Amino acid sequence: MQSIQFPLTCPVCHEAMSWSRVAVACPNRHSFDIAREGYVNLYRTSRKSENQPGDSREMLVSRRSFLDTDQYAPLSDCLNQIVSRLASDAASDSRESQRPWSILDVGCGEGYYLNRMQTHLTDRHPNVLTERLGIDISKEAVRMAARRYKDVSWCVANAADYIPCGNGSVDLALSVFAPRFSDLLHRVIAPEGRLVTVIPGPHHLAELTALAMADSRDTGAKEQETIAQFRPNFDLMDQQTVRFEMLLNMDTLWDLYRMIPVYWRSTKEAQERIRGLDGLLATAHFSVLTFRPDQPSGRPA
Ligand SMILES: C[S@@+](CC[C@H](N)C(=O)[O-])C[C@H]1O[C@@H](n2cnc3c(N)ncnc32)[C@H](O)[C@@H]1O
Ligand SMILES: [Zn+2]
Repeated sequence: MQSIQFPLTCPVCHEAMSWSRVAVACPNRHSFDIAREGYVNLYRTSRKSENQPGDSREMLVSRRSFLDTDQYAPLSDCLNQIVSRLASDAASDSRESQRPWSILDVGCGEGYYLNRMQTHLTDRHPNVLTERLGIDISKEAVRMAARRYKDVSWCVANAADYIPCGNGSVDLALSVFAPRFSDLLHRVIAPEGRLVTVIPGPHHLAELTALAMADSRDTGAKEQETIAQFRPNFDLMDQQTVRFEMLLNMDTLWDLYRMIPVYWRSTKEAQERIRGLDGLLATAHFSVLTFRPDQPSGRPA
């Protein structure tokens, strides 16, 4: 599979942009530098560097360290099975195979899922030409992703404002534990495209949450809430549950704890109690929802 610079659209005027060695720019001369690590920053903020939006460096370092253990690989494998099925369909559709198959990860974090998906497609579907874009509002997240994963285009962008992709141009959009922007996603997803979102299931990290004594949210309701959030624009096609046990050692447990909101809601005492544990057997429980747009995209950007 060859690496392609993802065709971005301009966050200012919404025209198609082109890539040069040093910048991406639109015909109206809005230009965005390509950082040394290879990512593009489309999000201009006046906030100081220590006050940037999105996940903090601390959370990101913990998340990367946790994901590097591959404890969440079964979830990533589930996403890869979904993409495999879609890619096989795309390959058998001669019309689709004319252009690259486009994957967008919104709120991509430090890039774990999109990178694993790209590797999976390269191994299993070498004939499917793809283009891949991860966007996140956290500059630190995008920097970490770009530094490590070179076969994907990465960009800092506020998906609540504008997703830098053309109307109906995305074949698969992912939103993994990320905010869900139904209208904005609907604009960019192709009429035959899919949106796959992952949310925590009702038993997700129940043991850790109980130890932290933080209020356990009613995640059963979250699934219905998510479906309702997408309903004006998307129809639910498929729902899968991924559930498994993880034997976490002390360090992995600490990284997992530090990358989730429960940590930030816990008391100091709870944090210290968990820091003192040798390890924990914890349940991972996810709901993977696949949607399709309920009407053709193609509204004005
Ligand atoms: C819980 S993290 C999940 C990251 C990644 N998908 C993963 O599972 O490892 C949510 C991500 O959404 C990003 N995010 C939050 N608001 C956003 C926005 N408005 N536009 C783009 N990304 C956003 C955060 O910076 C963070 O990286
Ligand atoms: Zn422009």
